[in-house]
Amino acid sequence: MAETVYPVPANWAQDALVDEAAYHAMHRRSVEDPVGFWRDAAQRIDWIKPFTTVKQTSFNEADFGIEWFADGTLNLSANALDRHLETRGDQVAILWEPDDPADAARRITYRELHADVCRFANVLKSRGVQKGDRVTIYLPMVPEAAVAMLACARIGAIHSIVFAGFSPEALAGRITDCDSTIVLTADEGLRGGKKVPLKDNVDEALGHCPAVETVIVLRRTGAAVPMVPGRDVDWAEVAAAQSTVCEPEEMGAEDPLFILYTSGSTGKPKGVLHTTGGYSVWASITHQYVFDYRPGQIYWCAADIGWVTGHSYVVYGPLMNGATTVMFEGVPNYPDASRFWQVVDKFGVEIFYGAPTALRALMREGDEWVTRTSRKTLRLLGSVGEPINPEAWEWYHKVVGEGRCPIVDTWWQTETGGVMISPLPGATALKPGSATRPFFGVQPALVDNEGVPIEGAGDGCLVITDSWPGQMRTVWGDHERFFQTYFSTFPGTYFTGDGCRRDEDGYYWITGRIDDVINVSGHRMGTAEIESALVAHAKVAEAAVVGMPHDIKGQGIYAFVTTNANVEPDEALRRELVQWVRHEIGPIATPDVIQFAPGLPKTRSGKIMRRILRKIGENDVSNLGDTSTLADPSVVDHLLANRPQLA
Ligand code: WT7
Repeated sequence: MAETVYPVPANWAQDALVDEAAYHAMHRRSVEDPVGFWRDAAQRIDWIKPFTTVKQTSFNEADFGIEWFADGTLNLSANALDRHLETRGDQVAILWEPDDPADAARRITYRELHADVCRFANVLKSRGVQKGDRVTIYLPMVPEAAVAMLACARIGAIHSIVFAGFSPEALAGRITDCDSTIVLTADEGLRGGKKVPLKDNVDEALGHCPAVETVIVLRRTGAAVPMVPGRDVDWAEVAAAQSTVCEPEEMGAEDPLFILYTSGSTGKPKGVLHTTGGYSVWASITHQYVFDYRPGQIYWCAADIGWVTGHSYVVYGPLMNGATTVMFEGVPNYPDASRFWQVVDKFGVEIFYGAPTALRALMREGDEWVTRTSRKTLRLLGSVGEPINPEAWEWYHKVVGEGRCPIVDTWWQTETGGVMISPLPGATALKPGSATRPFFGVQPALVDNEGVPIEGAGDGCLVITDSWPGQMRTVWGDHERFFQTYFSTFPGTYFTGDGCRRDEDGYYWITGRIDDVINVSGHRMGTAEIESALVAHAKVAEAAVVGMPHDIKGQGIYAFVTTNANVEPDEALRRELVQWVRHEIGPIATPDVIQFAPGLPKTRSGKIMRRILRKIGENDVSNLGDTSTLADPSVVDHLLANRPQLA
């Protein structure tokens, strides 16, 4: 496909916060004088005690450390709420759209949100939660989820949100890892007309978590759920008893704000830790410039708060910037494939930020679902979570945005806290499929497998050579793992785990993960995690998981499974294993293909040759490379001869 370039539309070049010349000037200053740039930029935050030091960071083993604005103090909830009360207290902060369009939307003003947050902060205090304690949040996409996050931030408790689609096992692991003694949940969630038994899941998880003392249960559907006396309390009841006055806790810039678990190349999810000051600056400045955001505009990020996108771009970034942020409980195709665009029309959404996997699914349903809606308020579109293929990009641009809305394809990670590489709508000519250029303060570089820098156009491993304020600070409970995972592969740099190409114009094209992580519908899955779920099944001896191309999900899950001796693998077992993995991790980990094999390709030292399995998963078997070092090369012939017929 010939590369198309979409120049900045004239109205955007004129009216945007940043044009091409300003982008270059600001980016240059941000890397040549990071201290000056960030000292100025951080004034966007209301500090309680101003910082005097800006940046103390090193990626080298000898003096490794990452601190930003370290001696300043602030409170994020005060920056997201209190500071707006005078100027925009009656403006809607959260516009909530329920799963069922027949149910009533909720409009919560900054003043109301402030009161709700203070009240719930007092609830947490009354249950003994103190600064630094961990609060696990397992809630659906309801405003109370945002209230809970902000209430934690207000009293200095560290929230750990677990996506409400995760299984009881996954929830239990995350509660235990951060020693959380309180869990916030709902009776049931509601998504696409289906009920999700959240409280039942919590009860099952807590069988493994004896330290949990309190469960606060929000009534969402009103389903009868068992309440354990002394442990479980009703959200509305305990909130009603509290006052709406709660002074924000003075937090050090480097005090922890939240933990969010994410998958890596080993079996156990990592608790990514973000701190208060740098994250606040990063979430708010990226939200402002990437979306060219002006206070009062109606903005919608369609991500779930269970992922980092929901943290930074549904809740924290937009609220710090005085936005009206849409929160959507439902799914793109319920009741039908017009749902997103009907919500856009209902609320007059100007900026829409979504995931390629949803766009691909909607694209397949045909243009009519889109074109029957108006969408005249849309000015800007965003994409996040995985590479957007040029076909989906063109459809998004032409059909959804009617050619008038720039698309910001934002590359970033849970670890980066906010957007790292993205167009700025008034500054960057767009190329479909490219995340284009670095944000202020971001210094990307490409290196080859040996760590040798690649200059100019080329292909390599994407690293970041210097710190930025929104960077994660540690892996919860395992600082050594933090260093080993991100800073030891290419010493002196942060390794992203992504492969990337840079073109002649200096544009970045993310090519996907180069570690044992796959990206399924924009959700990150460690292959090792799925493997350990499979081998936990009594009939499974060994398993290896790789990604496979998938039209809608981007990548699907391809599992090779060896059963125990005396177990005859059959269709019933295949189905059982699919259900098993769903139960162990959650529906997002549902394997697309399970191939039974009497043996996996291993070297003589017993290491599985994943390279070969990846090629089979990708259906690229014409050249499997050197197989002579395999202990038993005939294993590969068996795998090739018995590939399941794919739809
Ligand atoms: C991985 C991070 C970004 C927050 C949500 C996902 C992939 C993310 C893009 C993009 C190509 C992308 C990368 C990255 N990714 N955005 N615009 N283009 N790839 O956060 O779960 O931490 O996943 O998602 O592979 O490393 P995450």
